[in-house]
Amino acid sequence: MRVLVTGGSGFIGANFLNSSVPSRPTDHFINVDALTYAANPMSVAAIAERSNYSFRKIDIADGPAILETVLDAAPDLVVHFAAESHVDRSILGPEAFVRTNVMGTFQLLEACRALAKKKEVLFHHVSTDEVYGSLGETGLFTETTPYDPSSPYSASKASSDHLVRAYHRTYGLAVKLTNCSNNYGPLQFPEKLLPLMIQKALARQPLPVYGAGLNVRDWLYVTDHVSAIWAVIEKGKPGETYNVGGNSEARNIDLVHSVCRILAEETAATEKELLDLITFVKDRPGHDLRYAIDASKIRRECGWQPTETLASGLRKTVRWYLDNESWVAAVTSGAYRNWLEQNYEGRSS
Ligand code: NAD
Ligand code: TYD
Repeated sequence: MRVLVTGGSGFIGANFLNSSVPSRPTDHFINVDALTYAANPMSVAAIAERSNYSFRKIDIADGPAILETVLDAAPDLVVHFAAESHVDRSILGPEAFVRTNVMGTFQLLEACRALAKKKEVLFHHVSTDEVYGSLGETGLFTETTPYDPSSPYSASKASSDHLVRAYHRTYGLAVKLTNCSNNYGPLQFPEKLLPLMIQKALARQPLPVYGAGLNVRDWLYVTDHVSAIWAVIEKGKPGETYNVGGNSEARNIDLVHSVCRILAEETAATEKELLDLITFVKDRPGHDLRYAIDASKIRRECGWQPTETLASGLRKTVRWYLDNESWVAAVTSGAYRNWLEQNYEGRSS
C-alpha cells in the first residue's frame, strides 16, 4: 500500500510515521510537509533513510503543487495531519489557519477527487474534539454532538471536517474522520501546555496558567492516537466519524502540579521550588471550559482503547523531554531555522 501522510514532520504525524514505517515494511510512506515552525526534521531522523519512506516539501494550500504530488504519488491511503494547530496562535493570527486548515484541506480533497477517477483512495482526516465547543461540568462529546467551535483554530478545523464529509456525500470520495482530545507525548512543539510547562520548569521560569487553571481537558497519549487512527483505517466504516479520547480528564492546574511532582522526582529540583513558579495569568479569550470524550463507538466498532494512563503517559513524556534536550534546542533556536534553509532548500525529492 502507498500511504501519503501530510504534516508528517509535526508532532502527531512524526509519531505516526516513526511507529508505522518500521512496522509496515511492505507499505511505502510519503511525508508531505511544508516544514513550518512546528515541524522538525529531527523528529523523523530515525526513519529518514528507510527505503519505504520519502519526503516532499510541499505546501498543501498550493493547489497545482499538491495536485501534481498526489497524482504522482498515487497513494491508496491519505492520512491528513497537516494543519496550523495552536489555539493561541489562531487568536493572534487567524489567517494562516484559514489558509492551511480550510484551503489546504480543500486543495488536498480536490487532488484526491482527481486521483479517485483513476484509482481507489481512502482519505483519513485527523481532527479535534474542539469542533464541538465547550462542555459544562458534566457530559461527554459524542459523534452526534452539534458543532459549536469557539476559536479560529477550532472553526477552521470544523470547516475542514464539513468539507471532508461533503466530498464523501457529493463526489463519493472514500473518507473516514477521527476527532480526538488533547494529545501529549514525545516530539510536541513546546508551545502546547505540557511541553511548555516542562521547559519553563527546567529553566526555573514562571509557569503561566490561564485564568484559575480550572479548565478541563481529556489527555490522549500520542501513540494511543496513532493506534486509534490505524484501527479506524482498518476497521471503521467509510464516511463515518469516530471520537478518540484517553479516558484521562484533568484540570490544567492539577496537570501542572503533576508535572512539578514528576520533575522533582526525576531531577535535582524540589517540588516546592517548582510549584512556587506557578503564575496565574490573564485568561485566553473564548477559553473552552471542558472537553471530554465518549469513545464507545471506536471501542465497539474498531476494538480500540487507550493503553496509557495519565500517570504512565506523563512520566514517559517528562522523561522524553529530559532525555532529548537537543531536539528542544533545535526547535526553539534560530540555528534550527538556519539548518532548515541549509539542508532543505531545493532538496524536495
Ligand atoms: P503540529 O503543529 O505539531 O504539526 C503540524 C504539521 O503540519 C507540521 O509538520 C507543519 O510543518 C505541517 N504543516 C502546517 N501547514 C502546512 C501546509 N500548509 N502544508 C503542508 N504542511 C503543513 O500539529 P499536531 O499537533 O501534530 O497536529 C496534527 C493534526 O492533529 C492537526 O490536524 C491537528 O488539528 C490535529 N489534532 C491535534 C491535537 C493535539 O493535541 N496536538 C488534538 C486533536 C487533533
Ligand atoms: P493547549 O496545549 O494550547 O491546547 P488546547 O488549547 O488546544 O486545549 O492548552 C491546553 C490547556 O492549557 C488549555 O485549557 C489552555 C491552557 N494553557 C495554559 O493555562 N497556559 C498556557 O501557557 C498554555 C499554552 C495553555
